[in-house]
Amino acid sequence: MKFFVDTANLDQIKEAKQLGILDGATTNPSLMAKEGIKGKSNIFKHYAEICDIVQNDVSAEVISVDFDGMIKEAEELVQISEHIVVKIPMIKDGIKAIRYLSDKGIKTNCTLVFSAGQAILAAKAGATYLSPFIGRVNDITWDGIELIKEIAEIYSVQLYDTEILAASIRSPRQIVECAKYGADVVTSPLNSILGLLRHPLTDNGLEKFLADHRKSQA
Ligand code: G3P
Repeated sequence: MKFFVDTANLDQIKEAKQLGILDGATTNPSLMAKEGIKGKSNIFKHYAEICDIVQNDVSAEVISVDFDGMIKEAEELVQISEHIVVKIPMIKDGIKAIRYLSDKGIKTNCTLVFSAGQAILAAKAGATYLSPFIGRVNDITWDGIELIKEIAEIYSVQLYDTEILAASIRSPRQIVECAKYGADVVTSPLNSILGLLRHPLTDNGLEKFLADHRKSQA
């Protein structure tokens, strides 16, 4: 399973990159706004900085919700870097845009996915990545991991090439479950990735090893 970091914060992206496990990054308009990035030229400059750090797929989302607007934005976004993946919402014009961009060889990430039916449409349109939002499904008392399982089963039976990019991750446990049930990629905030490191027996064991070493050197 590939690891993407789900943030527009350059320090966090650098820290994830330095870990040596980073395969890409995802952003969205809310994450860009959180960093205080305003205006098209600043937004494009910020995407370029993210691409320079990541040196791999970086999802940048369109704001338009009509076909022509999405294509115009997509064509501008891909000029920023060879690493840009155009993030397109799961709406009717979005599906048309994904088909168009896919036919042109431009990578896409179909976002705001909450059902298996939407996942089938995105794959049929040729999306490179599909982003089911695990945490937001759980927020309404449904089961985000069940959604990953269902999509993974369908994509496996149908031999779709689209990669399942589990998004809206809120905990390290969800990363483990995404790996278990067939997500190709997980995009996560840095703190959930770092949460995978933690285990009290590791900390206690290391403390004991170091204490024993110190004693043997005394
Ligand atoms: O990748 C999508 C993600 O950023 C949404 O996460 O926590 O806002 O549901 P969240």
